[in-house]
Amino acid sequence: MAFKERVFSGVQPTGNLHLGNYLGAITKFVALQERYDCIYCVVDLHAITVWQDPLELPKATREVTAAFIACGIDPQRHIVFNQSQVAEHAELAWIFNCVARMGWLNRMTQFKEKAGKDRENASVGLFVYPNLMAADILVYRATHVPVGEDQKQHLELARDIAQKFNNDFADSIRAHGHGNVFFPQPEPLIQGPATRVMSLRDGTKKMSKSEPSDYSRINLTDDADAIAQKIRKAKTDPEPLPSEEKGLETRPEADNLVGIYAALKGTSKTEVLREFGGGQFSTFKSALIDLAVARLGPIGAEMKRLGRDPAYIDSVLADGAQRAQVIAAETMKAVKDIVGFVRS
Ligand code: TYM
Repeated sequence: MAFKERVFSGVQPTGNLHLGNYLGAITKFVALQERYDCIYCVVDLHAITVWQDPLELPKATREVTAAFIACGIDPQRHIVFNQSQVAEHAELAWIFNCVARMGWLNRMTQFKEKAGKDRENASVGLFVYPNLMAADILVYRATHVPVGEDQKQHLELARDIAQKFNNDFADSIRAHGHGNVFFPQPEPLIQGPATRVMSLRDGTKKMSKSEPSDYSRINLTDDADAIAQKIRKAKTDPEPLPSEEKGLETRPEADNLVGIYAALKGTSKTEVLREFGGGQFSTFKSALIDLAVARLGPIGAEMKRLGRDPAYIDSVLADGAQRAQVIAAETMKAVKDIVGFVRS
Protein backbone atom coordinates (compact mmCIF):
# COMPACT_ATOMS: atom_id res chain seq x y z
CA MET A 1 0.00 0.00 0.00
CA ALA A 2 1.23 3.51 -0.79
CA PHE A 3 1.26 5.80 2.22
CA LYS A 4 1.03 9.56 2.03
CA GLU A 5 4.58 10.85 2.35
CA ARG A 6 5.08 12.66 5.63
CA VAL A 7 8.10 13.69 7.70
CA PHE A 8 8.24 13.42 11.49
CA SER A 9 11.09 14.14 13.87
CA GLY A 10 11.64 15.18 17.47
CA VAL A 11 14.13 16.97 19.69
CA GLN A 12 14.31 16.69 23.47
CA PRO A 13 13.98 19.85 25.57
CA THR A 14 16.92 19.04 27.79
CA GLY A 15 18.90 22.29 27.42
CA ASN A 16 21.96 23.33 25.41
CA LEU A 17 20.92 22.73 21.81
CA HIS A 18 24.23 22.40 20.00
CA LEU A 19 25.90 22.21 16.62
CA GLY A 20 25.31 18.42 16.50
CA ASN A 21 21.55 18.88 16.85
CA TYR A 22 21.69 21.65 14.26
CA LEU A 23 23.75 19.86 11.59
CA GLY A 24 22.55 16.32 12.30
CA ALA A 25 18.87 17.15 12.51
CA ILE A 26 17.49 20.70 12.38
CA THR A 27 19.11 21.77 9.07
CA LYS A 28 17.57 18.63 7.53
CA PHE A 29 14.18 19.53 9.02
CA VAL A 30 14.40 22.91 7.30
CA ALA A 31 15.39 21.47 3.91
CA LEU A 32 12.65 18.81 3.91
CA GLN A 33 9.91 21.46 4.23
CA GLU A 34 10.14 22.11 0.51
CA ARG A 35 9.22 18.54 -0.48
CA TYR A 36 7.07 17.09 2.30
CA ASP A 37 4.41 17.82 4.88
CA CYS A 38 6.44 17.94 8.08
CA ILE A 39 5.69 17.50 11.77
CA TYR A 40 8.38 18.62 14.22
CA CYS A 41 7.90 17.82 17.87
CA VAL A 42 9.52 18.98 21.10
CA VAL A 43 9.52 15.67 22.95
CA ASP A 44 8.91 16.62 26.56
CA LEU A 45 7.55 13.15 27.45
CA HIS A 46 10.90 11.72 26.42
CA ALA A 47 12.77 14.36 28.43
CA ILE A 48 11.28 13.19 31.73
CA THR A 49 12.67 9.67 31.33
CA VAL A 50 15.53 11.25 33.29
CA TRP A 51 14.91 13.85 36.00
CA GLN A 52 13.94 17.34 34.77
CA ASP A 53 13.51 20.34 37.04
CA PRO A 54 9.83 21.36 36.60
CA LEU A 55 10.85 25.03 36.64
CA GLU A 56 13.38 24.55 33.83
CA LEU A 57 11.40 22.19 31.56
CA PRO A 58 8.96 24.80 30.16
CA LYS A 59 11.88 27.14 29.39
CA ALA A 60 13.72 24.35 27.60
CA THR A 61 10.58 23.44 25.61
CA ARG A 62 10.16 27.06 24.51
CA GLU A 63 13.86 27.29 23.67
CA VAL A 64 13.75 24.30 21.30
CA THR A 65 10.64 25.76 19.68
CA ALA A 66 12.41 29.11 19.27
CA ALA A 67 15.39 27.28 17.73
CA PHE A 68 13.14 25.52 15.21
CA ILE A 69 11.65 28.84 14.13
CA ALA A 70 14.97 30.73 14.18
CA CYS A 71 16.56 28.04 11.97
CA GLY A 72 13.82 28.48 9.38
CA ILE A 73 11.03 26.02 10.18
CA ASP A 74 7.69 27.51 9.19
CA PRO A 75 5.10 26.60 11.86
CA GLN A 76 2.24 27.76 9.68
CA ARG A 77 2.95 25.62 6.64
CA HIS A 78 4.06 22.69 8.81
CA ILE A 79 3.32 21.49 12.34
CA VAL A 80 5.40 22.38 15.42
CA PHE A 81 4.18 21.32 18.87
CA ASN A 82 5.20 19.72 22.15
CA GLN A 83 4.50 16.05 22.63
CA SER A 84 2.65 16.17 25.97
CA GLN A 85 -0.15 18.24 24.40
CA VAL A 86 -1.20 15.33 22.16
CA ALA A 87 -2.19 12.46 24.44
CA GLU A 88 -2.35 9.99 21.53
CA HIS A 89 1.46 9.63 21.64
CA ALA A 90 1.31 8.08 25.11
CA GLU A 91 -1.77 6.05 24.20
CA LEU A 92 -0.18 4.42 21.17
CA ALA A 93 3.07 3.94 23.12
CA TRP A 94 1.17 1.76 25.58
CA ILE A 95 -0.05 -0.47 22.77
CA PHE A 96 3.52 -0.64 21.44
CA ASN A 97 4.70 -1.63 24.95
CA CYS A 98 2.58 -4.71 24.33
CA VAL A 99 3.91 -5.27 20.79
CA ALA A 100 7.66 -4.78 21.34
CA ARG A 101 9.61 -7.61 23.02
CA MET A 102 11.85 -7.31 26.06
CA GLY A 103 14.69 -8.80 24.01
CA TRP A 104 14.44 -6.01 21.44
CA LEU A 105 14.70 -3.30 24.08
CA ASN A 106 17.48 -5.11 25.91
CA ARG A 107 19.62 -4.61 22.81
CA MET A 108 19.27 -0.81 22.76
CA THR A 109 22.74 0.69 23.22
CA GLN A 110 21.44 4.13 24.19
CA PHE A 111 19.61 2.69 27.21
CA LYS A 112 22.80 0.99 28.31
CA GLU A 113 24.77 4.24 27.92
CA LYS A 114 22.18 6.40 29.69
CA ALA A 115 21.40 3.97 32.49
CA GLY A 116 25.10 3.31 33.08
CA LYS A 117 26.06 0.96 35.87
CA ASP A 118 23.06 1.77 38.04
CA ARG A 119 20.52 0.05 35.81
CA GLU A 120 18.26 -0.98 38.71
CA ASN A 121 17.71 2.68 39.44
CA ALA A 122 16.88 3.81 35.87
CA SER A 123 13.25 4.81 35.24
CA VAL A 124 11.00 2.30 33.47
CA GLY A 125 10.31 5.14 31.03
CA LEU A 126 13.97 5.18 30.00
CA PHE A 127 13.77 1.49 29.13
CA VAL A 128 10.64 1.84 26.98
CA TYR A 129 11.78 5.17 25.52
CA PRO A 130 12.11 3.69 21.98
CA ASN A 131 8.50 2.46 22.05
CA LEU A 132 7.32 6.02 22.64
CA MET A 133 9.56 7.14 19.80
CA ALA A 134 7.93 4.58 17.51
CA ALA A 135 4.53 5.89 18.63
CA ASP A 136 5.56 9.50 17.86
CA ILE A 137 6.33 8.55 14.29
CA LEU A 138 3.60 6.02 13.63
CA VAL A 139 0.71 7.93 15.20
CA TYR A 140 1.09 10.15 12.10
CA ARG A 141 1.95 7.17 9.89
CA ALA A 142 5.05 9.17 8.93
CA THR A 143 7.20 7.77 6.14
CA HIS A 144 10.48 9.73 6.56
CA VAL A 145 12.42 10.53 9.73
CA PRO A 146 15.46 12.84 9.62
CA VAL A 147 17.81 12.10 12.55
CA GLY A 148 21.49 11.95 13.48
CA GLU A 149 23.39 8.67 13.40
CA ASP A 150 22.82 8.04 17.14
CA GLN A 151 19.09 7.45 16.54
CA LYS A 152 19.56 4.77 13.88
CA GLN A 153 18.97 1.83 16.20
CA HIS A 154 15.78 3.40 17.58
CA LEU A 155 14.50 3.85 14.03
CA GLU A 156 15.17 0.20 13.27
CA LEU A 157 13.11 -0.70 16.33
CA ALA A 158 10.26 1.52 15.12
CA ARG A 159 10.31 -0.37 11.82
CA ASP A 160 10.23 -3.71 13.68
CA ILE A 161 7.27 -2.55 15.78
CA ALA A 162 5.38 -1.39 12.68
CA GLN A 163 5.99 -4.72 11.01
CA LYS A 164 5.02 -6.82 14.03
CA PHE A 165 1.82 -4.82 14.51
CA ASN A 166 0.96 -5.28 10.83
CA ASN A 167 1.61 -9.04 11.10
CA ASP A 168 -0.03 -9.70 14.46
CA PHE A 169 -3.19 -7.84 13.51
CA ALA A 170 -3.20 -8.64 9.79
CA ASP A 171 -6.70 -10.20 9.77
CA SER A 172 -8.20 -7.42 11.84
CA ILE A 173 -6.52 -4.74 9.69
CA ARG A 174 -8.16 -6.28 6.61
CA ALA A 175 -11.49 -6.84 8.37
CA HIS A 176 -11.66 -3.14 9.26
CA GLY A 177 -11.02 -2.11 5.68
CA HIS A 178 -7.45 -0.81 6.05
CA GLY A 179 -5.93 -2.97 3.32
CA ASN A 180 -3.04 -5.29 4.07
CA VAL A 181 -0.77 -3.05 6.15
CA PHE A 182 -1.73 -0.35 8.60
CA PHE A 183 1.62 1.22 9.51
CA PRO A 184 4.31 2.22 7.00
CA GLN A 185 7.96 1.30 7.50
CA PRO A 186 9.40 4.71 8.42
CA GLU A 187 12.61 5.45 6.55
CA PRO A 188 15.48 7.04 8.47
CA LEU A 189 17.11 9.98 6.68
CA ILE A 190 20.73 10.04 7.88
CA GLN A 191 22.93 11.66 5.25
CA GLY A 192 25.68 14.19 4.69
CA PRO A 193 29.04 15.03 6.27
CA ALA A 194 27.75 15.69 9.83
CA THR A 195 25.46 12.85 10.89
CA ARG A 196 27.62 12.39 13.98
CA VAL A 197 29.27 15.60 15.15
CA MET A 198 31.96 14.89 17.72
CA SER A 199 33.12 16.76 20.83
CA LEU A 200 35.57 19.59 20.16
CA ARG A 201 37.71 18.29 23.03
CA ASP A 202 37.79 14.63 22.03
CA GLY A 203 37.13 13.46 18.48
CA THR A 204 36.11 10.00 19.64
CA LYS A 205 33.14 11.22 21.74
CA LYS A 206 29.82 12.50 20.43
CA MET A 207 29.06 16.20 20.89
CA SER A 208 26.40 16.12 23.57
CA LYS A 209 24.17 18.28 25.77
CA SER A 210 25.23 16.43 28.87
CA GLU A 211 29.03 16.71 28.51
CA PRO A 212 30.24 18.78 31.52
CA SER A 213 32.75 20.91 29.58
CA ASP A 214 31.03 23.67 27.59
CA TYR A 215 34.17 23.80 25.42
CA SER A 216 33.21 20.41 24.01
CA ARG A 217 30.28 21.87 22.05
CA ILE A 218 29.05 24.97 20.25
CA ASN A 219 25.62 25.93 21.55
CA LEU A 220 23.10 27.56 19.25
CA THR A 221 22.91 30.45 21.71
CA ASP A 222 26.70 31.07 21.78
CA ASP A 223 27.76 34.54 20.64
CA ALA A 224 30.54 35.21 18.12
CA ASP A 225 33.25 35.44 20.80
CA ALA A 226 32.28 32.14 22.39
CA ILE A 227 32.15 30.40 19.00
CA ALA A 228 35.59 31.77 18.07
CA GLN A 229 37.12 30.80 21.40
CA LYS A 230 35.74 27.26 21.30
CA ILE A 231 36.95 26.64 17.75
CA ARG A 232 40.40 28.11 18.53
CA LYS A 233 40.69 25.80 21.55
CA ALA A 234 39.32 22.76 19.69
CA LYS A 235 41.68 19.80 19.87
CA THR A 236 43.70 19.07 16.70
CA ASP A 237 46.88 17.18 15.86
CA PRO A 238 50.28 18.52 14.73
CA GLU A 239 50.04 17.43 11.06
CA PRO A 240 48.82 19.73 8.27
CA LEU A 241 45.39 18.89 6.83
CA PRO A 242 45.42 16.00 4.33
CA SER A 243 44.48 16.59 0.70
CA GLU A 244 42.12 13.62 0.49
CA GLU A 245 39.37 12.18 2.67
CA LYS A 246 41.30 8.96 3.19
CA GLY A 247 43.89 10.94 5.16
CA LEU A 248 41.23 11.75 7.79
CA GLU A 249 40.60 8.12 8.72
CA THR A 250 42.97 7.97 11.69
CA ARG A 251 42.55 11.62 12.67
CA PRO A 252 39.18 11.96 14.46
CA GLU A 253 39.57 15.64 15.43
CA ALA A 254 40.59 16.73 11.94
CA ASP A 255 37.81 14.61 10.45
CA ASN A 256 35.26 16.23 12.76
CA LEU A 257 36.27 19.83 12.00
CA VAL A 258 36.37 19.17 8.26
CA GLY A 259 32.92 17.55 8.49
CA ILE A 260 31.54 20.53 10.39
CA TYR A 261 32.96 22.94 7.82
CA ALA A 262 31.53 20.90 4.94
CA ALA A 263 28.08 20.70 6.54
CA LEU A 264 27.98 24.42 7.39
CA LYS A 265 29.01 25.28 3.84
CA GLY A 266 26.69 22.73 2.24
CA THR A 267 29.53 20.90 0.48
CA SER A 268 31.52 17.67 0.86
CA LYS A 269 34.66 16.87 2.87
CA THR A 270 36.49 16.22 -0.41
CA GLU A 271 35.72 19.76 -1.57
CA VAL A 272 36.87 21.23 1.76
CA LEU A 273 40.16 19.32 1.56
CA ARG A 274 40.66 20.48 -2.00
CA GLU A 275 40.67 24.01 -0.61
CA PHE A 276 42.53 23.51 2.70
CA GLY A 277 44.58 20.31 2.17
CA GLY A 278 48.28 20.77 2.96
CA GLY A 279 47.56 23.91 5.02
CA GLN A 280 47.88 24.50 8.76
CA PHE A 281 45.00 24.16 11.21
CA SER A 282 45.32 27.83 12.21
CA THR A 283 44.32 28.99 8.71
CA PHE A 284 41.52 26.43 8.50
CA LYS A 285 40.22 27.30 11.96
CA SER A 286 40.01 31.02 11.07
CA ALA A 287 37.90 30.14 8.03
CA LEU A 288 35.75 27.82 10.16
CA ILE A 289 35.20 30.56 12.75
CA ASP A 290 34.03 33.00 10.04
CA LEU A 291 31.69 30.42 8.56
CA ALA A 292 30.27 29.27 11.91
CA VAL A 293 29.69 32.84 13.12
CA ALA A 294 28.01 33.78 9.83
CA ARG A 295 25.68 30.76 10.01
CA LEU A 296 24.97 30.58 13.74
CA GLY A 297 25.13 34.24 14.78
CA PRO A 298 21.75 35.22 13.29
CA ILE A 299 20.13 32.05 14.70
CA GLY A 300 21.30 32.80 18.23
CA ALA A 301 20.11 36.41 17.93
CA GLU A 302 16.68 35.33 16.66
CA MET A 303 16.38 32.74 19.45
CA LYS A 304 17.05 35.46 22.00
CA ARG A 305 14.45 37.72 20.39
CA LEU A 306 11.84 34.94 20.39
CA GLY A 307 12.79 34.08 23.96
CA ARG A 308 11.42 37.45 25.02
CA ASP A 309 7.99 36.52 23.63
CA PRO A 310 6.89 33.29 25.36
CA ALA A 311 3.23 34.04 24.59
CA TYR A 312 3.97 33.82 20.87
CA ILE A 313 5.88 30.54 21.31
CA ASP A 314 3.03 29.08 23.34
CA SER A 315 0.54 30.08 20.65
CA VAL A 316 2.66 28.28 18.03
CA LEU A 317 2.70 25.13 20.19
CA ALA A 318 -1.04 25.29 20.89
CA ASP A 319 -1.90 25.70 17.22
CA GLY A 320 0.50 22.92 16.20
CA ALA A 321 -0.85 20.58 18.87
CA GLN A 322 -4.41 21.13 17.70
CA ARG A 323 -3.54 20.27 14.10
CA ALA A 324 -1.38 17.30 15.10
CA GLN A 325 -4.12 15.95 17.32
CA VAL A 326 -6.60 15.76 14.43
CA ILE A 327 -4.27 13.39 12.55
CA ALA A 328 -3.27 11.40 15.66
CA ALA A 329 -6.89 10.94 16.78
CA GLU A 330 -7.83 9.46 13.43
CA THR A 331 -4.99 6.92 13.67
CA MET A 332 -5.95 6.00 17.24
CA LYS A 333 -9.59 5.37 16.31
CA ALA A 334 -8.45 2.89 13.68
CA VAL A 335 -5.87 1.32 16.02
CA LYS A 336 -8.51 0.79 18.70
CA ASP A 337 -10.78 -0.98 16.22
CA ILE A 338 -7.89 -3.09 14.97
CA VAL A 339 -6.82 -4.12 18.49
CA GLY A 340 -10.42 -4.85 19.51
CA PHE A 341 -11.21 -2.10 22.00
CA VAL A 342 -14.87 -1.11 22.36
CA ARG A 343 -15.26 2.61 21.71
CA SER A 344 -18.22 4.94 21.57
P1 TYM B 1 17.96 14.38 20.81
O1 TYM B 1 17.10 15.39 21.45
O2 TYM B 1 19.04 13.75 21.61
O3 TYM B 1 18.66 15.00 19.52
C1 TYM B 1 17.91 15.65 18.53
C2 TYM B 1 18.48 15.34 17.16
O4 TYM B 1 19.84 15.72 17.09
C3 TYM B 1 20.65 14.64 16.64
N1 TYM B 1 21.96 14.71 17.29
C4 TYM B 1 23.12 14.71 16.61
N2 TYM B 1 23.39 14.65 15.30
C5 TYM B 1 24.70 14.67 14.94
N3 TYM B 1 25.72 14.77 15.83
C6 TYM B 1 25.50 14.83 17.16
N4 TYM B 1 26.50 14.94 18.02
C7 TYM B 1 24.13 14.80 17.61
N5 TYM B 1 23.55 14.84 18.83
C8 TYM B 1 22.22 14.79 18.61
C9 TYM B 1 19.88 13.39 17.08
O5 TYM B 1 20.25 12.27 16.32
C10 TYM B 1 18.45 13.82 16.86
O6 TYM B 1 18.08 13.63 15.50
N6 TYM B 1 15.16 10.26 20.68
C11 TYM B 1 15.40 11.52 20.01
C12 TYM B 1 14.19 12.40 19.95
C13 TYM B 1 12.96 11.76 19.40
C14 TYM B 1 12.70 11.46 18.03
C15 TYM B 1 11.40 10.89 18.00
C16 TYM B 1 13.46 11.58 16.87
C17 TYM B 1 11.86 11.40 20.10
N7 TYM B 1 10.91 10.87 19.27
C18 TYM B 1 10.83 10.44 16.80
C19 TYM B 1 12.88 11.14 15.67
C20 TYM B 1 11.60 10.58 15.65
C21 TYM B 1 16.49 12.25 20.78
O7 TYM B 1 16.74 12.00 21.93
O8 TYM B 1 17.06 13.25 20.11
